[in-house]
Amino acid sequence: MPNILPLRYGGPKARIAVIPGDGIGKEVTPVAVRVIKAATSKRNRPLEFVEFDWGADKYLHEKISLPEGAVELLRDEFDAILFGALGDPRVPSNQHAADILLGLRFKLDLYVNARPTELLHDRFTPLRDRTTKDINLMVFRENTEGIYVGAGGLFKKGTPDEIAIQEDINSRKGVERIIRHAFDYARNHSRGTGTPGGALGVTSASVSPAKSPSPKPVRLCMSDKSNAMTFAGDLWQRVFKSVRAEYPEIDSRHLFIDTLAMELVRDPSQFDVIVTNNLFGDIISDLAAQLAGGLGLAPSGNIHPGRTSLFEPVHGSAPNIAGKGIANPFGAVLASSMLLEFLGWNEESALLKQSVKSALAENVTTPDLGGVKVTLEVSDYLTNFVAAV
Ligand code: NAD
Ligand code: IPM
Ligand code: MN
Repeated sequence: MPNILPLRYGGPKARIAVIPGDGIGKEVTPVAVRVIKAATSKRNRPLEFVEFDWGADKYLHEKISLPEGAVELLRDEFDAILFGALGDPRVPSNQHAADILLGLRFKLDLYVNARPTELLHDRFTPLRDRTTKDINLMVFRENTEGIYVGAGGLFKKGTPDEIAIQEDINSRKGVERIIRHAFDYARNHSRGTGTPGGALGVTSASVSPAKSPSPKPVRLCMSDKSNAMTFAGDLWQRVFKSVRAEYPEIDSRHLFIDTLAMELVRDPSQFDVIVTNNLFGDIISDLAAQLAGGLGLAPSGNIHPGRTSLFEPVHGSAPNIAGKGIANPFGAVLASSMLLEFLGWNEESALLKQSVKSALAENVTTPDLGGVKVTLEVSDYLTNFVAAV
């Protein structure tokens, strides 16, 4: 499966760019770095971290969002990027976040936004009678086009006749590569065995096959709104049909995005892999995250297999709790687990996930998960856990 293998396998010289960003991004990212360091240095596989201060403060003081040369620097000098969150009430336009976060997704061509949702403990789902065996799925969100590209404009702005246009851009190449990635992932995984082959499916060559006695094939669902958004939908439908013909062993189907939202709540156990466009993937991944305990627990990877990729929690800068020291660091730590998997460091990746599972089981959690701990206490627990194993 050469097209989904990373070029980089970490190695002792792996370099990680760290962009904490704004708000709670600055609180959860140091926890993630600390836990990664504890897991890797113990095995004598230290990583090199370089921190960048890109975010609202820099934007407001220096008028710099994504510095010149940043994309080339990250692309050529780093293996992966650990990202916190961007968003600050002092920048109502959110311009710096668009420049930095969307800028990196687009300019590094990180076309796969992998957003796994796994219920790690029964008590965190808001759904009645659902357990960990019911909620374990992957959303693949197209990450480089769609309605996010910023094509459009405002005409006659500020007048009674004003018009806002926001175009939805879908290229055949863009649609095909995300759908194909989802099918490749499905082909390399089986269900009922946790996340065999890891969360990403990008390091499949270095991961042993599923150990389940009777692995069941992963089911795939492509979702769009082709009944209303007919041009884009037409392309997604045609590409889906032609790609799925190459994967006859995969149980694949289509759902309209509104139906998918409803079905995810009604019975999440019917889903393993969901593939959809940029906007629908943004929305459905928040919905899925809540089924497994909320945004504080949700990780994501912005990936171009084989190239410098970016890992971040799904949540934002949470201005409502920023500075209080109570941000949940699990999303950032699970994103770091994905980062380590991307580098091919599967043991260390599993260790990070295990530390979060253990903290959940022992209720070492911040208030958003019903706990009484502050971020630092959770950080201490996770660090001690990985250092002790
Ligand atoms: P948000 O994710 O920041 O917060 C939503 C809710 O979830 C809030 O009540 C918040 O307190 C809670 N929450 C989120 N993460 C948490 C955590 N780790 N621990 C505890 N509680 C947590 O979304 P929002 O309020 O819609 O957006 C705030 C800002 O963040 C906006 O500027 C938005 O554009 C930005 N944002 C950035 C990213 C990103 O950088 N990837 C993602 C989403 C939103
Ligand atoms: C996310 C966020 C971003 C997005 C925002 C901050 C632009 O919601 O990463 O999910 O919509 O992609
Ligand atoms: Mn989002």
